[in-house]
Amino acid sequence: MPDALLDRIAATADLQELDSVRVALLGKSGEITAKLKSLGAMDPDARAAEAPKIHAEREAVTNAIAERKAALEAAELERRLATETIDLSLPATESVNGTVHPVSQVMDELAEIFADLGFSVAEGPEIETQWYNFTALNMPENHPARAMQDTFYLQPRTPDEEPRVLRTHTSPVQIRSMQEHGAPIYAIAPGRVYRSDSDATHTPMFHQVEGLVIDRAITLGHLKWTLETFLKAFFERDDVVLRMRPSYFPFTEPSAEVDVGWSMEKGRRVVGGCDGWMEVLGSGMVHPRVIANCDLDPNEWQGFAFGCGIDRLAMLKYGMDDLRAFFDGDIRWLKHYGFRALDVPTLSGGVGA
Ligand code: DAH
Repeated sequence: MPDALLDRIAATADLQELDSVRVALLGKSGEITAKLKSLGAMDPDARAAEAPKIHAEREAVTNAIAERKAALEAAELERRLATETIDLSLPATESVNGTVHPVSQVMDELAEIFADLGFSVAEGPEIETQWYNFTALNMPENHPARAMQDTFYLQPRTPDEEPRVLRTHTSPVQIRSMQEHGAPIYAIAPGRVYRSDSDATHTPMFHQVEGLVIDRAITLGHLKWTLETFLKAFFERDDVVLRMRPSYFPFTEPSAEVDVGWSMEKGRRVVGGCDGWMEVLGSGMVHPRVIANCDLDPNEWQGFAFGCGIDRLAMLKYGMDDLRAFFDGDIRWLKHYGFRALDVPTLSGGVGA
């Protein structure tokens, strides 16, 4: 095997040159291919002597090319890593093309509004155990309420692991917050949630915000005042009216669905006034069993909770009508509905930005 061939491969400077060497040696009319073809014309003795040499040569050349290719690719990656840098600390300026997604903007608005009321922002994992997502929230196994939500179950990692779920709501963050911080608590928990559901008004991933207050002597009156104050600040109107309808959620008792009044303005349905009602959130007084599941004494601590779809809040406030467009990643939509990086919502500057 002539080392010259291997030297030729090792000397290639880039992938393109390497490929032309490959074609010259192993291609249809390459040197080694020609040698292989010549075997057919040899007499049997000569062929028996030559064939192993030629095959060995072809194998050595093939391996050398693969090795060189890997080396050149690694060097190219190194070069790019060294030269292509992004300075993430650069300040955002008008020349930056990206926009803040309406969902992120609304989450910032919620944090701002509730911070003003003394609430902190809590987070929890999107992959949850069934205990946090259901059981601790007063939905034991076989409880019909588990079937109310179309749950994504994960493949168990071991044969005896109970399948974990993609959280179907932000309510498990209630449990995590109480366990972590005890009481009193004033917190909201915005985040992604998942349900196996997809049509014009449902996407398999969407966003919710959970609210939780645990303290002494908390009443339904506190809940109503908080929601009213929140919705007035969020929609930036004083004529926001609420209606609470008795409902059922396993983790609250009593439970109420909250409707907000709407009216027609320039042919569009907007929040405010009272030509009709639309449902915006679920709420109630935290069930004593849920409080006890977090090792707090329900005779000492009470509270309220609520859960609300963030995407819908964004649609109502900023006038988008197709939920699916939120997650298409269409740059034109993002340019149109997105917010400038500097439009940080503040209560003084206006949470509408
Ligand atoms: N977790 C409920 C859902 O996703 C929403 C909800 C209703 C949350 C009432 C609450 C509540 O905290 O009190 O459908």
